[in-house]
Amino acid sequence: MSNKKKEMLIGGNWKLNPETLAEAKDLASGITLPASDGVGAVLFPPLVFLEELVDEFPHLTWGGQDFYQEDAGAYTGEVSLPMLKSIGTGWVLVGHSDRRGKFNETDEDVNKKARAALVEGFNVILAVGEKRKEGGTEQVIASLKASTKDIPAEHLSRLTVAYEPVWAISATAGSKPATPEYAERVIRALKNELDVRYIYGGSVDSKNAKSFFARPAIQGALIGGASLKAGEFSEILRIASDFHPSSSSG
Ligand code: PGA
Repeated sequence: MSNKKKEMLIGGNWKLNPETLAEAKDLASGITLPASDGVGAVLFPPLVFLEELVDEFPHLTWGGQDFYQEDAGAYTGEVSLPMLKSIGTGWVLVGHSDRRGKFNETDEDVNKKARAALVEGFNVILAVGEKRKEGGTEQVIASLKASTKDIPAEHLSRLTVAYEPVWAISATAGSKPATPEYAERVIRALKNELDVRYIYGGSVDSKNAKSFFARPAIQGALIGGASLKAGEFSEILRIASDFHPSSSSG
């Protein structure tokens, strides 16, 4: 398989940014999609801005950073999948290390959310990643298995796994990106367990994106910090389009 023939997906996880709806709209309006429509780009803004962004920027794809798996009931503070669907959102992110580490979500919680979202017809980006590099691969494989347990095979085409070593995420103190070789090695081990699309996340920017995308097993990226700069995010999308089959250079 040529390195350049693969479906690419770039996710932008805005986390708890920006502060105002006006800034969120500014950020969205600065994003330029690549000319080739072969690269998927999905943005995960704070939930409170989501409806407005879906309405005003329908050419972009929007997703929920989080939700609760029950459709309705006494779950104060939560947002449901039918609610996300009702405002035109078809994507969700589950299992991000912020949710796992800071909000105590377990693999079992992540699994419940992923299964519920896939059953509802959503596209899901499910993140897994080890906290420390040493001996981490076994830990990630175990986490992947538990997080994706009992997902029916017919739903796997809508599941993308983001391999995000926590030590490589820019918000982690002392972080540095994984090498593309390392990321690919872990992703290949994960792909042996579950054959879905894999993307890499952890300090990806426009300078290093190409080195990750050039790895055959890496089909895109989940971007945090660099997704908050429209020019930087657009440039990463452009770089990804070079690796898609419909690209003229492909
Ligand atoms: P980063 O974040 O790109 O800022 O390292 C990635 C993520 O947390 O998804």
